[in-house]
Amino acid sequence: MMARLNTLAVLATSLTAVSGQYYQRLGTCPTLGCVLPPDQQDFLPGQYFDLRLEVHAPVNGSEAFNNGVPDEKFTVTIAKEGGGAAEDVAKFFKLDEPQVEKWTFKWYEDLYAEDAKQASVVNVASKIYRRLALYEPGKYTVTLNYYDGQKTTAEWVVRPLATEKKAKNIILFIGDGMTTNMITAARLLGHKTINGKYQSNLQLDHFPVIGHQMTHSIDTFITDSANSASALYSGHKSTVNAMGVYADSSPDIYDDPKVETIVELLKRIWGSAWGAVSTAFIADATPTALTAHTRSRGAYGPLIDQALNSVTNYTWTNHGGPDVYFGGGAEQFIAGSGSYQGKDYYQEFAKANYTVSWNKTALAAIPNNEKALGIFCRSNLPVWIDRNILPDNTKNLTNDPSGAKAAATDLPGLKDMTLKAIDVLHRRGGDRGFFLMSEAASIDKQMHALDYDRALGDLLELDDTVRATVAHLEAIGELESTLVLVTADHGHGFDVFGGVDTQYLRDQKTDRERRKAVGVYQNSGLSNYQVEAPGVSYSTGPNFPVNWDPRYAIAAGFGANPDRRENYRLSPTPRTPATNTPGHSSADYFANGADAPDGFVVNGTLPTNEAQGVHSLTDVAVYAMGPCQETFGGTYSNIDVFYKMANCLGLARPDAGRAGRRRSIEKGVAGGELG
Ligand SMILES: *[C@@H]1O[C@H](CO)[C@@H](O)[C@H](O)[C@H]1NC(C)=O
Ligand SMILES: *[C@@H]1O[C@H](CO)[C@@H](O)[C@H](O)[C@H]1NC(C)=O
Ligand SMILES: *[C@@H]1O[C@H](CO)[C@@H](O)[C@H](O)[C@H]1NC(C)=O
Ligand SMILES: *[C@@H]1O[C@H](CO)[C@@H](O)[C@H](O)[C@H]1NC(C)=O
Ligand SMILES: *[C@@H]1O[C@H](CO)[C@@H](O)[C@H](O)[C@H]1NC(C)=O
Ligand SMILES: *[C@@H]1O[C@H](CO)[C@@H](O)[C@H](O)[C@H]1NC(C)=O
Ligand SMILES: [Zn+2]
Repeated sequence: MMARLNTLAVLATSLTAVSGQYYQRLGTCPTLGCVLPPDQQDFLPGQYFDLRLEVHAPVNGSEAFNNGVPDEKFTVTIAKEGGGAAEDVAKFFKLDEPQVEKWTFKWYEDLYAEDAKQASVVNVASKIYRRLALYEPGKYTVTLNYYDGQKTTAEWVVRPLATEKKAKNIILFIGDGMTTNMITAARLLGHKTINGKYQSNLQLDHFPVIGHQMTHSIDTFITDSANSASALYSGHKSTVNAMGVYADSSPDIYDDPKVETIVELLKRIWGSAWGAVSTAFIADATPTALTAHTRSRGAYGPLIDQALNSVTNYTWTNHGGPDVYFGGGAEQFIAGSGSYQGKDYYQEFAKANYTVSWNKTALAAIPNNEKALGIFCRSNLPVWIDRNILPDNTKNLTNDPSGAKAAATDLPGLKDMTLKAIDVLHRRGGDRGFFLMSEAASIDKQMHALDYDRALGDLLELDDTVRATVAHLEAIGELESTLVLVTADHGHGFDVFGGVDTQYLRDQKTDRERRKAVGVYQNSGLSNYQVEAPGVSYSTGPNFPVNWDPRYAIAAGFGANPDRRENYRLSPTPRTPATNTPGHSSADYFANGADAPDGFVVNGTLPTNEAQGVHSLTDVAVYAMGPCQETFGGTYSNIDVFYKMANCLGLARPDAGRAGRRRSIEKGVAGGELG
């Protein structure tokens, strides 16, 4: 040990010593012994999870240890606070001892090492215990003993039991990337004020309870949509790009230690119906994180298979397949175009008795008693503005969901898909209730493209969908029994800082003169999006702008952006803010001259290999209405959204197998405790 400590002391003074910051050997594992789930994790009583142990032996680099030979004779124990001595994990969970696995991985210690192409090599010995559960609430300590005296401990908390089902249904709306700043801007565009007083409001403004959730990943403060969705759905934080697992260091992206998600729990415990609706391609992170267990969100084909068939590669649990699955992303369904094993996934779903629809007309005709797959285009659904204001932008696309080289023309929106999903889930769930996740995906996608108007259009579409959902739940008699939540997975550094005279801007000769068109404070004026201009009438109904392209527009922008041009007007085609430039590498982006050509250049703050905006640090809002709404006030972690939902659904279970408890659980399942 002394030798090791001396080495570290010397290296600590060198500039390139491991910081584990920009790059990390393994995010959740600062020592050479890794316990996954790591320290400080929470669990729902009875929730399935896998436990992986890794012992690292760095071959070279600043952490080189033991000649690169990992300890294969490590042991692991678990102890419950106040529950007696630590026990061997295999004995505690009554499992056979798994085989030791071995692999090697490489990583860069920092940017200097990457520039020098000097990857550090690490040899690993590992074991994984699959499908465990802890039933008794309390604190547990897991201890990994390795290298003859080294210890890594993980303190876990199993939260209190909550077996009573207080909400029959939950509808979880996710405005992907949606912040309070965006909601404020959308309200300004979609609603009229007179002398500072709004004449109408967002539906969100009528929710009785608002909270804030902190979105950080387990090992970075900026999150992506994969692990943030996973935290909302499972109560376990993870690493960027990972869903339903704690990321391990093995080469296999499917063997990482899994955690059970809300739909897997709901199916197993209550047999409820569940569904997902998204305006993204349905293999995207937010919808697939309900069922996906992988370190790599980009494994689109396999993730669609996991959505239909559950995890088939490893011992796990069966979520029964979604009762409704509506969105875009035909690529993962058409045989050979990106589908799992090249199979026709329309056929695979049809074989599992799903009605398959490809357009809005067919969607409306789906029988409510059947499982339903609706894939309405390739890629993401065209956004609300292009569907409703600039439909020419949808006519030249080759996004027909059948695979034909044609445009998908009969497209549903978020509201059509969500209302139909509710009808199918309500019918199929019956007394067992349902869970629906409905995602407005392009708030995020269009914010990435700095296309503020298209992002805010989809935010207004989300609000309109929530409004229609509340009315529909009331009409079918389910409003009192349904918890409706509206939240986001993360934010973008977007805000509005003034008004713009876009006509004056256009008529100036230089960038510096054009910037004078931006009016701040007393020159910001009032919203003109509710003022009809001659010849401009979009007639898209109340709660949306009557003019999307007023002379006096909002001056909006980003806390982080690539080089770009701004004219603050509705972009006639979806926006591409930054592009490559001849003579520069393809990973180097400059302001796109064809975007807002009459605008001015705003140089970026991001590394120049970023072509779009990126996610930001901000907490995001949680709007709650219905049973358990009061538990959603305050500020909490994103994982708490899961625990609050799980407690409201009575998913925190004691061991159903234990004598004396079985009867009460069976009574719970069968009993009419839903009211
Ligand atoms: C580690 O060893 C490998 C060769 O096995 C080499 O490519 C790499 O540059 C070395 N890394 C460091 C940090 O020395
Ligand atoms: C199952 O595992 C294999 C091997 O890792 C992988 O190629 C395949 O994509 C996985 N399938 C699914 C559906 O996860
Ligand atoms: C599909 O429905 C048929 C007829 O009701 C039934 O026999 C079959 O088991 C179902 N298949 C699946 C995969 O659920
Ligand atoms: C909608 O899909 C159905 C098949 O489900 C097809 O018969 C119909 O022609 C489609 N309608 C349009 C407008 O594409
Ligand atoms: C669509 O295609 C037509 C014919 O090629 C062309 O005239 C038109 O400008 C295109 N529209 C858009 C929005 O790209
Ligand atoms: C933007 O950066 C470029 C160099 O990359 C510079 O030539 C130009 O003057 C900058 N423009 C502004 C408006 O700052
Ligand atoms: Zn997101």
